[in-house]
Amino acid sequence: MPVLTNIATLYRCAAPGGQGALHAVDRAALVWEGETIRWVGAEAELPAAYAAAERLDAEGALVIPGLIDCHTHLAFGGWRADEFEMRILGKSYLDVARAGGGIASTMRRTRAASEDELFERCLGFLGEMARLGVTTVECKSGYGLTVEDELKLLRVYRRLAGAQPLGIVATFLGAHVVPPEYRDDRAAYVRLVCDEMIPRVAAEGPAEFCDVFVEETAFHADEARRIFAAARRHGLRPKLHVDQLGDGGGAKLAAEVGAISADHLEYTSAEGMRAMAEAGVVAVSLPLATLYLRQKPMDARAFLDAGATVAVATDFNPGSAPSFHLPLALTLACTMNRLTPAEALKGATRYAARAIGREDRIGALEPGKQADFVLLDAESVNHWLYHFRPNAARATYVRGRRVASATGP
Ligand code: NIG
Ligand code: FE
Repeated sequence: MPVLTNIATLYRCAAPGGQGALHAVDRAALVWEGETIRWVGAEAELPAAYAAAERLDAEGALVIPGLIDCHTHLAFGGWRADEFEMRILGKSYLDVARAGGGIASTMRRTRAASEDELFERCLGFLGEMARLGVTTVECKSGYGLTVEDELKLLRVYRRLAGAQPLGIVATFLGAHVVPPEYRDDRAAYVRLVCDEMIPRVAAEGPAEFCDVFVEETAFHADEARRIFAAARRHGLRPKLHVDQLGDGGGAKLAAEVGAISADHLEYTSAEGMRAMAEAGVVAVSLPLATLYLRQKPMDARAFLDAGATVAVATDFNPGSAPSFHLPLALTLACTMNRLTPAEALKGATRYAARAIGREDRIGALEPGKQADFVLLDAESVNHWLYHFRPNAARATYVRGRRVASATGP
């Protein structure tokens, strides 16, 4: 039963007090047994029962719960650096998509990639994410857009869950865009999603959520309602990409369908924010996508004022957010979305866990929770997110085991 001591400050991220309350403990100790946290508190108050336990020296680090990236599109073929340049030279994200690029271009390369190729690539991404302090990753399908290619992506996620230490949570995003072969019959694609993809996904696993991209160029609200009705029948809970490029009433739709989260939300109205707060839908900010597409930032402060909880994630994908750097996303959530560093940290721990239905197991340092935590080389949460560095994480632990460290695991 290891005891981590000499922790300058530990942020428990307990529930009470809302988004900014981190429940800091100075000169702390953390005790775990196997995969589970047993005790957290001031080192001076360490119970006698743990006095003889194996000691690990945190050397004055900050300790935070393992970071949770609650929105990624982890498995995809190829990259789109050419589009990055095109957008800089003046083409919009939608211009690029209309010219056959964008999601459709990644779809072609994802269909062409083998399951093994995708698996190996994701394994590499996850290893790098672990070094940044990430311990759980939500992974969406959505670049296959045929029954078999969507299942291929979800199989990659199932294999990853068993092959490496980070937690993997899979989401089915067959309704990402209407693929080109259905351009003239979008109703037929919606039927394919509802009648073939969802039943197979539910039967073969491991997806727990069904996401829909609701936007003028993707799916409309009434199509999303049909897809979510099918998803509900098969036990998949709704998630949504909404209000990214304009206010399409997506936040109200998320409240109406009982989504666990709604993500992006750059253009959400005050009314939409209130609807989400009342329905308990977590608002997920994806500031890297806002930055790369040079859009109006999501107003996280207004979401908090409306009574909502806000999570922060990377949206890692080859188009709008080609980076899996969650600590960078947190710094941007402070500067662009006006979250305080404390609020941003709780948004990538406790509330990110809520956004993927895992608040009972991860996202906080409390007895009974999974021993997922990170040792940071920083003075305080404010200093960590203010002084952006390539990597402030000294070591990352998942289920009580060190899975990455600055000096080699
Ligand atoms: O979350 N908005 C839709 N999907 C992704 C972008 C995917 C892409 O550009 O490939 C997003 O931003
Ligand atoms: Fe996304």
